[in-house]
Amino acid sequence: MPIYRAHVLVCNGTGCSSNHAGAVTAKLKTELERQHLSNEVLVVPTGCHGMCEMGPVVVVYPEGTFYCQVKEDDVPKLVEEHLLKGRPVDALMYKGKETTAVPNYKDIPFYGKQNRIALQNCGYINPENIEEYIARDGYVGLAKALGEMSPQQVIDEVKKSGLRGRGGGGFPTGTKWSFCAASPGPKKYVICNADEGDPGAFMDRSILEGDPHAVLEGMAIGAYAMGADEGYIYCRAEYPLAIVRLHQAINKAEEYGLLGQNILNSGFNFTLHIKEGAGAFVCGEETALMASIEGQRGMPRPRPPFPAVSGLWAKPSNINNVETWANVPQILSKGGDWYASLGTEKSKGTKVFALTGKVKHTGLVEVPMGIKLREIIFDIGGGILNDREFKAVQIGGPSGGCLTKDQLDTPITYESLPPLGAIMGSGGLVVMDEDNCMVDIARFFLEFTQRESCGKCTPCREGTKQMLLLLEKICSGKGEMKDIDLLEELGNMVKNMSLCGLGQTAPNPVLTTLRYFRHEYEAHIKEHRCPAGACQALLSYTIVQTACKKCGLCAKNCPVQCIPGGRTEGYTIDAEKCIKCGTCFTKCPFNAISKG
Ligand SMILES: Cc1cc2nc3c(=O)[nH]c(=O)nc-3n(C[C@H](O)[C@H](O)[C@H](O)COP(=O)(O)O)c2cc1C
Ligand code: SF4
Ligand code: SF4
Ligand code: SF4
Ligand code: FES
Repeated sequence: MPIYRAHVLVCNGTGCSSNHAGAVTAKLKTELERQHLSNEVLVVPTGCHGMCEMGPVVVVYPEGTFYCQVKEDDVPKLVEEHLLKGRPVDALMYKGKETTAVPNYKDIPFYGKQNRIALQNCGYINPENIEEYIARDGYVGLAKALGEMSPQQVIDEVKKSGLRGRGGGGFPTGTKWSFCAASPGPKKYVICNADEGDPGAFMDRSILEGDPHAVLEGMAIGAYAMGADEGYIYCRAEYPLAIVRLHQAINKAEEYGLLGQNILNSGFNFTLHIKEGAGAFVCGEETALMASIEGQRGMPRPRPPFPAVSGLWAKPSNINNVETWANVPQILSKGGDWYASLGTEKSKGTKVFALTGKVKHTGLVEVPMGIKLREIIFDIGGGILNDREFKAVQIGGPSGGCLTKDQLDTPITYESLPPLGAIMGSGGLVVMDEDNCMVDIARFFLEFTQRESCGKCTPCREGTKQMLLLLEKICSGKGEMKDIDLLEELGNMVKNMSLCGLGQTAPNPVLTTLRYFRHEYEAHIKEHRCPAGACQALLSYTIVQTACKKCGLCAKNCPVQCIPGGRTEGYTIDAEKCIKCGTCFTKCPFNAISKG
């Protein structure tokens, strides 16, 4: 095997690829060839490093020099300076405070408080090369389970780790496995839920793209523990790269005797299939997902019977989320006690979050359970974009709740969030600033869940529709005070009476914003005013005459010519004709137009 003096890791995850990481990778190879360095320096395409907004990301080892926003044209300089002459290129490094270049990725605050376990290989290995996974102790957990442990011992180890389902519910994984293991019958299934329907979430996609073998190995260990010989990965078709990588990984693992028949000569057989989903949010719900695999319409059904008793094709089945499965190999190889030493008493280990919204550094972060929201948003995320004021954070995706600055010091655990009206969910974190209207945010999330409701049960189908109509009424300035009570009443009814988790959690964004931002609802209704200036129907634009320089730019750009006047007498906006498009507000070079 050739030895290289340097490795250049180029992120080829979806985020960086959309920023032309493929072209950067190709250029690196040709440039190294041109400089006669191909035998000394190896280019490795990897999965996501997490800091996707700074992509394409390139890391040079052994130093760990982190380059970001690298363009094809930057490559000749990077190769000549760093790889030929040994002089790292400051201009391409991440810039910290006072624009100082930060050479090593470990010193970048975004990575400072992270502890990467589920993401340990993402960004470090070539996900298409099984040997790189094996070199990082891949398949050690499976070998240990098959060679040294009984199925019950495997379940006990997972119980000891305290791992809880990362798909949203947080159910203890080892306990869930023990239910399926105890179900009688020669035929059982294990399933990986890779539907990932939350808007803005991409944790599972990144794991599948960057480290597919971790998921395969976790599933094989689970199948052995529960007595299953067949498994399905249900992945949404909008994740084409993840699907390609999964197919490649399954083929390679079968070739290496790590999947298929008589795995590692142990007599254990396990075959894996991939089922592509059509992208309906409700198909992430476990019973709907199994119906979809069976070729039926993806609709939830009542439980019991639970999947552990009667799941896929009425056989005992166990379903876990991608991140849950990805944690399993290390729990087996390093031990349940090791995993349980991370996190808090009841919420062990780490959790991956997709940090998005009005935060300086968006991306994927893996942090120990118990970390405070403030640490994620301000220490890791770098604070609020454009140094605006933090207003709220939506945690848990469309099923979650909006928390305020009073809750920034809440440790993030499965227990701490529900009393506040929020849930951990699958790990979406959307940060909002003073320009976000909380009524409009509640409307946005409810519009999503209402559209995705499968319509099977009346409380969810009709209740979410009525709630949405009320929110639209309030956002358009036509709300009445009694609508607030009605929203609360409907929200609680939908929560308590819906058949599946979609309806049971859909009112959360509405109920939490009513709880913490009721004054914003009241301002819309009583004063016909949107305090954040986001609800278009309630906006009015006026020219602040003392600031106006009479340049005429607003009048020139107004699409409906409703700013009469001239350079001598000045300009005014005709509120009757104004369509509230905001063009004048953005075009005025002197900030002389007020919006409110
Ligand atoms: C509407 C709805 C959508 C869901 N979507 C997902 C999803 O995309 N991924 C996921 O793992 N779990 C999702 N879940 C949770 C699953 O039903 C199930 O609890 C989970 O896959 C179990 O795995 P875990 O124990 O590892 O968390 C969803 C639940 C509901 C009600
Ligand atoms: S709660 Fe909503 S999504 Fe779930 S079964 Fe009822 S209608 Fe369908
Ligand atoms: S908001 Fe649009 S329509 Fe109204 S005055 Fe300004 S440019 Fe004209
Ligand atoms: S663009 Fe601004 S400064 Fe110019 S006329 Fe309009 S309001 Fe006045
Ligand atoms: S896709 Fe490259 S850092 Fe996330």
